[in-house]
Parts: sequence; C-alpha cells; structure tokens
Amino acid sequence: MKIIGTGRVHPSQVVTNDMLEKFLDTNDEWIKTRTGIAERRVISSERLEDLAAEASLKAIEDAGLTPADIDYIICSNVVNEYITPSLSCIIQGAIGARCACIDVNAACSGFIYALDMADDRLKSGKAKNILVVAAEEPTRMVDWSDRSLCVLFGDGAGAVVVTQGEGLLCSRLTTQSKVDCLHYVRTLEPTPYITKVENSAPMYMNGKEVFKTAVLSSSRDIKTLLSRAGLKPSDIKYYILHQANMRIIEAIANWLKLDMSYFPHNVDYCGNTSSASIPLLLDELAREGKLQKGDKILMSAFGAGFTTGACIIEWTK
Ligand code: COA
Repeated sequence: MKIIGTGRVHPSQVVTNDMLEKFLDTNDEWIKTRTGIAERRVISSERLEDLAAEASLKAIEDAGLTPADIDYIICSNVVNEYITPSLSCIIQGAIGARCACIDVNAACSGFIYALDMADDRLKSGKAKNILVVAAEEPTRMVDWSDRSLCVLFGDGAGAVVVTQGEGLLCSRLTTQSKVDCLHYVRTLEPTPYITKVENSAPMYMNGKEVFKTAVLSSSRDIKTLLSRAGLKPSDIKYYILHQANMRIIEAIANWLKLDMSYFPHNVDYCGNTSSASIPLLLDELAREGKLQKGDKILMSAFGAGFTTGACIIEWTK
C-alpha cells in the first residue's frame, strides 16, 4: 500500500479555553498544563457526514483521481447520528462513488486499523484505489458539565487514498479488553420483553489509567516496529502520534530520547479528535510541504478497547 492523496476538514466553531471558563469551573492554565490544549474545533451546525465527504473529495482530488476510481471505502468512526447505514455508505452517496463500503470502530486507533485492512485488500487484488476516511465527533459523547472530560475533545474528518505500492513498511495492531477504563454506553429502543437493567451514560474515562496504558503501549509498539524495520529512532522523520494529550506525546519523546521536532502536533488547536487526529495531522504536514519522498513516518495510536495500532510508512508522493 502507498498513500497517494490526503484531505481534511475541521468544523468551523473554534472553542477556546477561555470560552469554557464561562460555564465550567476550569481555567486556561489547568487545561494547558495538563493537556497542552489551547482550543478545539467543535461541530455546531455541520453534519459529520458532510465533513467526511468533503475531506474525502479533497483526498481523491489530491490523488489525481475521481470518485469513480475508488473501489472500496473504509471509514473509521465511533459515533455519528446514524446507527445504520454505516457512515461509509453515506459518504459513498455524498461523493458519488460506486463501491463496497465498510465502517470500522477501533476507537482512536481506528485509522491505523483501517489502513491495515486496506493493505490486506490491496494485497489480495480485490481493490485498486481505496478511500480511508476517519470522521469523528467525540464532543457528542461527553457530558459538557463534566470539566474533567469535555475540555479534552474536538471533532474533524481526515482522509487518505491508498493504492498498491511499497509505502507500508510494517504495522502492529493490539487489543486488550479493558472496558471499565474507557467507555460510552447508549440504551437501545425498549421492547415488551426486555427485563435487564440498561443504563445510558456519557463517556466515562479513568484518565490516569488511560494515561499510563497509552504511554506504555505506544512506546512498546514503537520499539517493536523500529526493531522489525531495522531502524533507529532518529531514522524516522516524524512520529505522528494520536493527538490525545501533549504530556503523553512528550513522555514518548523523552523515552525515545528525541527532541520535540520529531513530534508534530495539532492537539493544541484541535483537541483529541479520536481516530481523525492522525490523518488530520498527516494532511496538514503534506499540504505544508513538510513531507519529502523517501521520508519514514511512524504513526501510533491508542484508544478505548484498549486498542493500539502503529505502522511505519515511507512517503512516496
Ligand atoms: N479544570 C480544572 N480542574 C480540573 C479539570 C478541569 N478541566 N478537570 C479535572 N480537574 C481537577 C479534578 O477535579 C481534580 O481535583 P481534586 O484534586 O480537587 O479532586 C484535579 O483537577 C486533578 O484531577 P486528575 O483527574 O487527577 O488530573 P490528571 O492530572 O490525571 O489529569 C487528564 C487529567 C484527563 C488530563 C489526564 O489524566 C490524562 O491526560 N489522561 C489521559 C486521557 C487521554 O489521553 N484520553 C484519550 C484516550 S484516547
């Protein structure tokens, strides 16, 4: 697999830390010190599927293709307004593509899982050009009166187009069931036969536990991939890590003994955009001309599950 096009769309509403202070017992200093976040983009009047379709069209155009050239769509998504059909089906209709579509929910690691699935499909010869889009609105999963959670998130959609090539050097996916640590539960429609107790509740997260697990698991994935690819840490041009928290990114940079120039970030102005964070940042770097042919990029994500996904790619554009 190789990436031949990228695209991204952010919602228009910017929410700064100062704006949160108006209705929450919080402050800019606390949020910046603990998370590195100064502002985030939050869905207001937009629909997530529209952001996803626009990001997809940008990636397809960047690849020099048209929607008719896309023969598979994989969308990484945790929640949106539709339970069914899948978000990928809605995106397909919106961009005017005609192909099979599937959604994947591996929480914040979903983009890496989707890339891995795309690679398998390309290897099997079942597809030629695959659209991989990550579209997320985690701001709709949290209680906005809970200062410990709502300050962390932002929304957005990032997309790539991949085709056959030698761009994926190695990847690693892991899952360890830890439902208690991070979850969001919604009740379904009642029936005359339901006798069990069901609860609907906003997202719950054990922040300290997630922090520890994230640093340990991402570091382990990075070490495994570097050794598998026969590379040393400084051979990687950029570490594009899941943008959950600057302290997690800094902890991983310290562990690798690399300075922060290896770790581009958007969490400071986007918040944690779940599985969209990596493709959003990748597109930003690509469009700013910061990626050169032959650069090695390591992407590493972690999220609810507990899932992790990491891969090393070579930039071939
Ligand atoms: N503003 C001000 N104070 C806040 C606050 C806010 N937004 N949120 C929490 N606090 C308070 C708490 O109530 C607590 O007060 P207390 O000591 O009086 O009880 C204090 O700050 C410390 O809270 P704590 O939860 O211990 O902070 P922390 O240092 O663990 O930082 C996180 C919280 C969420 C920033 C941190 O745990 C974290 O980054 N975890 C990882 C989250 C993550 O990456 N999730 C994404 C997974 S994909």
